[in-house]
Amino acid sequence: MTFLITAGPTREPIDPVRFLSNRSSGKMGYAIAAAAVAEGHRAILISGPVALPPPGGVEFVSVETSDEMFDAVHAQLPRARIAVLAAAVADYKPIEVAASKWKKSAATVMLPLTPTRDILASLRPAVGARMTIVGFAAETERLLEQARRKVHAKDCDLIVANEVGPQRGFDVDENEVTLCFRDGREEIIPRMSKNALGEILVKVFVALAEKR
Ligand code: CTP
Repeated sequence: MTFLITAGPTREPIDPVRFLSNRSSGKMGYAIAAAAVAEGHRAILISGPVALPPPGGVEFVSVETSDEMFDAVHAQLPRARIAVLAAAVADYKPIEVAASKWKKSAATVMLPLTPTRDILASLRPAVGARMTIVGFAAETERLLEQARRKVHAKDCDLIVANEVGPQRGFDVDENEVTLCFRDGREEIIPRMSKNALGEILVKVFVALAEKR
């Protein structure tokens, strides 16, 4: 099967030298891509800027902004059977990108932001029922409540939910997740390395795709 996987943060430019971004390391998405290839699947990995080398055997697409990630995902979508959106896409971007570098002044400055397009929510209307769609939810509070809402709001088959905070979720090597399936089933996967978790998740995603 062909997987389409997003990973890492996005960068939303403010001016030629500054951007808005987040602490995502890309480790979870890269681990899923590596595990998919190890299981004999094809993986198209669409990644924001991270410090990791692309895993061997994946088809790699490098992007920077949420708009570039949106376009790359939709360009590759027809080829994929399973979409796994593990990227930490910025929710907002500056309304305007300054053409020259902002200069410092003593005054307080305001930076008007506008919402980015939601890539995950855009998938089901584009592909209909043929695709298995998996989202991630990283939350600091009310994790399961948020994940149960997102699985319906973004019309996906499964949300992989994890708590984030100091030493949890973002930019660490281990993860502990709860799987929230669309049909209401929930399953806790105990804390383990992101690589080991990637192997388990690939099996879960393939089983879901085979049931469609
Ligand atoms: N996501 C996306 N495009 C965006 C924002 C999020 O594809 N512009 C995807 C992420 O890759 C992840 C899922 O949506 O799979 C959940 O992202 P999250 O930021 O938790 O969801 P939001 O809709 O932004 O919810 P909220 O800010 O209310 O928690």
